[in-house]
Amino acid sequence: MTRLSLATLLLTASTAMADDAAVSFKTQIQPILDAQCVFCHVTGAENGGLNLGRRVARASLLAASSEAPMPRVTPGAPEQSYLVHKLRDTQLKAGGSGNRMPMNDPPRPLDDGQLTLFVRWIEAGAPDN
Ligand code: HEC
Repeated sequence: MTRLSLATLLLTASTAMADDAAVSFKTQIQPILDAQCVFCHVTGAENGGLNLGRRVARASLLAASSEAPMPRVTPGAPEQSYLVHKLRDTQLKAGGSGNRMPMNDPPRPLDDGQLTLFVRWIEAGAPDN
């Protein structure tokens, strides 16, 4: 391989990576959970048995759902992740139950940008990053 084509290859690879920059669970997902979810999902004893507090949130999300026949998060597979269905209001179609999350009255769904962060984090394998 010539020096030029190697340089082109590296440039292309780094551009692709920049477009697809990894979503950080700690700095991008957890702050949404802290602001909009934790005040209900705080001990894991209530509300679907889901604890979204900092120390256990990711492990709780990787566990089985108590409402639906799929895990809350299946690394690499947003459509097989009940969390995504609860955020999009497709939980009934996914075989689950209950309300769209975050549960508020009147409803205040996550915006598209926030939803996309969850989907991209799951697509990337739901890393602990
Ligand atoms: C006002 C309280 C409240 C808020 C805020 C809230 N939830 Fe919930 N959540 C509940 C309750 C109650 C249930 C169980 C009943 C239902 O599903 O409607 C639940 C269930 C869930 C489930 C299903 C649990 C399972 O076992 O599959 C998920 C996932 C979930 N919530 C995620 C979230 C996320 C993520 C947020 C923030 C974006 C959030 N919730 C905000 C009250 C809340």
